[in-house]
Amino acid sequence: MIDFKDRVAFVTGGANGIGIGLVRALLAEGCKVAIADIRQDAIDKALTEVNNPNAMGVQLDVSSREQMAAAAEKVEAQFGVVTLLFNNAGVNLFQSIEESSYSDWDWLMGVNLNGPINGVMTFVPRMIEHGKGGYVVNTASMASILAAGQPGIYNTTKFAIRGMSTSLRGSLAKHNIGVSVVCPGLVKSYIYASDDIRPQELMVDAKPVDKEGIERLAGVHDYGMEPDVIAARVIDGMKEDRHHIFPHPEFKDELREVFDEMLDDFRDYEQDPGYEQRLGFEKFRRDSYREQRKGLKK
Ligand SMILES: NC(=O)c1ccc[n+]([C@@H]2O[C@H](COP(=O)([O-])OP(=O)(O)OC[C@H]3O[C@@H](n4cnc5c(N)ncnc54)[C@H](O)[C@@H]3O)[C@@H](O)[C@H]2O)c1
Repeated sequence: MIDFKDRVAFVTGGANGIGIGLVRALLAEGCKVAIADIRQDAIDKALTEVNNPNAMGVQLDVSSREQMAAAAEKVEAQFGVVTLLFNNAGVNLFQSIEESSYSDWDWLMGVNLNGPINGVMTFVPRMIEHGKGGYVVNTASMASILAAGQPGIYNTTKFAIRGMSTSLRGSLAKHNIGVSVVCPGLVKSYIYASDDIRPQELMVDAKPVDKEGIERLAGVHDYGMEPDVIAARVIDGMKEDRHHIFPHPEFKDELREVFDEMLDDFRDYEQDPGYEQRLGFEKFRRDSYREQRKGLKK
């Protein structure tokens, strides 16, 4: 089981929503915590709120490799090596793919996918070298499994993060580094206001901001789960080294329905000439995947 006390945590998107919930929970577990966010005003507010010498702020845009590396240096200089990484920052665009522009893709892929990639590429080698184990938690979404016509780009990024998490979980176990992917449903957060932080250079061909739509979304997010509730469930999931952390139990039946529908798409085709030989290879792969899913830390 992961020990939290005195570890250094880096929480992207740590100034609002799920992130600030994680920050509070990690401080309560005895960690030193870096609140890493693009909004300096929100970082300042969060630091005032938590009022704890074990918290520090670091402003960055997670989509920048250079800024991620600079943030790592800053946090390491003040608190020591980060061994708990929370790739949590994310933005959303509530629209379908055919309504979207390349700059919409660049923005969401930059924050939601390159952000976690940059986090992993920056911090994981340091964690491995440090040799004290650690944990990577990637905030995906139920939208990493359930998709409809929109939000298309968001779904794409979240499916990808789930894939990255599963693969990393298999490869990092031998370094005693756990990996979980968090799949929340609706959260009481600020994500409906993502447009406020969209960089000017990624505004090309962006649709005008739908103010009424945002107000509606704000209302819906009001019914979202409290960040402190999610954070407690994330910590719980880490303590159990759970692959998927599903804070919202109300999705279980829907997942069963969707996976059953997926299985319904299989057909019992006639055996093709390579079938028997493939079975041998697939048995080997299947056994190895099963071991990795168990997260065996050798
Ligand atoms: N709100 C929901 O209902 C919901 C549901 C499922 C998953 N999620 C996911 O949870 C995560 C946290 O989102 P939230 O709902 O708490 O939203 P939020 O907007 O309240 O918090 C996200 C934080 O990320 C920061 N951020 C955005 N872009 C950034 C960047 N480029 N670099 C650094 N920081 C950046 C924002 O300033 C903000 O403080 C996201 O990955 C989101 O996709 C949210």
